[in-house]
Amino acid sequence: MKEIVLNASQKSVITCGEGAFEKIAPLVKAQKSFLLTDSNVFELYGGLIRQTFGNTPCYVLPAGEENKNFARLGEILSAMGEAELLRTSCLFALGGGVVGDIGGLAAALYMRGIKCVQIPTTLLAQVDSSVGGKTAVDMGGIKNLVGAFYQPELVFADPMFFKTLPVREIKCGLGEIVKYAGLDAEIYREVVKHKDNLYDLSFLAEITYACISHKANVVRKDERETGLRKSLNMGHTTGHAYELYDKKMSHGEYVLVGMWYETEIAKRKGFCKEEYANSLQELVRAVLGKIPVLDEACLKGALMDKKNEKAGVVTFVAPVSKGIFDLVKLPYEEYVAEILKAAEAIQC
Ligand code: NAD
Ligand code: GLY
Repeated sequence: MKEIVLNASQKSVITCGEGAFEKIAPLVKAQKSFLLTDSNVFELYGGLIRQTFGNTPCYVLPAGEENKNFARLGEILSAMGEAELLRTSCLFALGGGVVGDIGGLAAALYMRGIKCVQIPTTLLAQVDSSVGGKTAVDMGGIKNLVGAFYQPELVFADPMFFKTLPVREIKCGLGEIVKYAGLDAEIYREVVKHKDNLYDLSFLAEITYACISHKANVVRKDERETGLRKSLNMGHTTGHAYELYDKKMSHGEYVLVGMWYETEIAKRKGFCKEEYANSLQELVRAVLGKIPVLDEACLKGALMDKKNEKAGVVTFVAPVSKGIFDLVKLPYEEYVAEILKAAEAIQC
């Protein structure tokens, strides 16, 4: 078990590794607590939840992204009020990124902010969403439209939860892990080394710590995403745009699609050496399989990307060489033309 201290606007301590979950029961007893989880996690881990949380007041969110909305947030806040939580109370968010995002926002809003403990149970939530304090709900069809930066006081990332994850959810988390490989030379080496056994649970436990460490380093320097934190969105410009259009795959799979296309543009435009770009694209294929052929209709969402600074100019994070990346800005028409050229290359 290892500990990472993330000093940002609020201090956040992340405990990572087998046995991390066992640290939670005493914290629950030591204060007025509230549990937020989702219906799948509640069903799978009912015994463990009862053992750890006893009769702590609890809200069980129906599983699924469609419940990461303002109406559910209101229900959670009402349940917190009914449980008579005080400003000294603590919300425990036990689940994937959906529970973590909406739970973090509920903790930020209730009495203008109570303590939040994140207990991520998916690979994606452990390597990414539970760390760094981005909280949100979706609104009007736009992901994460309403939210706040609010650091969890504690995060407990225990790999025991990976054992019940369906392959699809592991693949989703691997999408974000391949993203980290594009940003961090050490993670790149490890992922390439394990290319043929990426689903191995002991590899996943180890790489989780490396990814959290990378993210904590970035968030320490740029909590509010004015610069460096934008890098954590490698693959996300095209990935998010396609996700908005398609809505059939998981978030991590869309990140992989975005990684493939944005790396292809970086290679064609000479930002990224061919050999390195090819090896990143090979990693993407190893996890995703077939790369979907995108057309112009899939790309409109890129105009609304949060990294864009000027209307009509699309920003994405391009790999340059191992551990080195750059923010690339292209007029929308040029970005579309480049994606279409890349799509043609897939079909050839
Ligand atoms: P999720 O929370 O919907 O979980 C995926 C599925 O796995 C759900 O059906 C859930 O019930 C189930 N599940 C959870 N733990 C399980 C376990 N141990 N065993 C079996 N099933 C389990 O989705 P996710 O992929 O964890 O997270 C996606 C969300 O995270 C999106 O809303 C995305 O916007 C958000 N996100 C946030 C950040 C951030 O920085 N805050 C970063 C990346 C993604
Ligand atoms: N997932 C990107 C970030 O936390 O900044």
